[in-house]
Amino acid sequence: MAHVLVTGGAGFIGSHLVDALLASDDGRVTVLDKLTYAGSRENLAGHEGDPRFRFVLGDVADAEQVVPLVAEADRVVHAAAEGHVDRSIEGPREFLVTNVLGSFTVLEACRETGTPMLLVNTDEVYGEGAEGTTFDEDDPMRPRNPYAASKAAAELLAHAYRETYGAHVTSVRGTNAFGPRQFPEKAIPVYVMAALEGRPLPVYGEGRQRREWLFVRDWVAACLAVLEHGRPGEVYNIGGGHELANLELAKQVCALAGAPEDLISFVPDRPGHDFRYGLSWDRLAGLGWKPQVSFEDGLARTVAWYADHRDWVARALAGARP
Ligand SMILES: NC(=O)c1ccc[n+]([C@@H]2O[C@H](COP(=O)([O-])OP(=O)(O)OC[C@H]3O[C@@H](n4cnc5c(N)ncnc54)[C@H](O)[C@@H]3O)[C@@H](O)[C@H]2O)c1
Repeated sequence: MAHVLVTGGAGFIGSHLVDALLASDDGRVTVLDKLTYAGSRENLAGHEGDPRFRFVLGDVADAEQVVPLVAEADRVVHAAAEGHVDRSIEGPREFLVTNVLGSFTVLEACRETGTPMLLVNTDEVYGEGAEGTTFDEDDPMRPRNPYAASKAAAELLAHAYRETYGAHVTSVRGTNAFGPRQFPEKAIPVYVMAALEGRPLPVYGEGRQRREWLFVRDWVAACLAVLEHGRPGEVYNIGGGHELANLELAKQVCALAGAPEDLISFVPDRPGHDFRYGLSWDRLAGLGWKPQVSFEDGLARTVAWYADHRDWVARALAGARP
């Protein structure tokens, strides 16, 4: 693997991507990250001092910073985003700036320099899926919340750049990732920390919404499979996770954390809360990828990691920037 620029590399998925890229002997990685509340240098601490690794503090919407970094790289993995649906409902502006204008800025730099780009996207772009159905990559995008709409906008721009300029932009649209270092505002770390600390686990509505969960190591392995073997300009769903209702997820977290199920408490539902997604991932399977970590094993590892890293959680929540 050559020199890869990873935007958002100090976040959850981004930092696991950096780990995977640097696991190969010949990899070089530059991270461009703004260190919002969701990003931390601590997530990359294992690579500090490695001559193959460099961290650059900056904003993907700032072309003056982005263009020279893209020009130096052989490939770009664009993972930087504002990513929490609830925050996008409270204040969509930042989502449009980072996810649309920022993605435009990275796309434009890749077009100018002829650098291949992987856009890291979400299954939420498809909108809500009916029970028992799956979306394939040719299905239309019908986003139902501002986060998903901003990610769909980035994807449409990527499509236009392929068609108009022949830009080398490939996309992945992934299901929910979970694992160590996920900021404690998403369902799994929120449930885990509540269960570990004996606080109520806040479950939306009646907990009937269903999500498909894929362990983060498998998620980033799918990104690398697309990066190395994917057809340039193609879109790949990352599915292959384990689907279950949020209430069932909360119960499993309680069991693993040794907490009583009566800690589960129902909170008012999120407006426009998608019931489920569901992805077909035949195209990705065609690249030889398949998940390696079972949901049960991944969840047990995740609970153990949060139990051992309460200081990380405290610093993340305090907005610490080590
Ligand atoms: N987490 C999931 O389950 C999931 C599922 C599907 C797709 N995705 C996508 O994967 C990508 C990474 O998600 P994540 O969950 O790791 O997010 P995250 O919130 O953990 O990390 C995002 C990172 O981007 C950085 N960032 C934000 N705005 C920036 C800006 N303007 N300039 C530079 N850096 C900026 C943050 O500092 C942070 O380090 C996102 O594009 C997201 O849409 C995530």
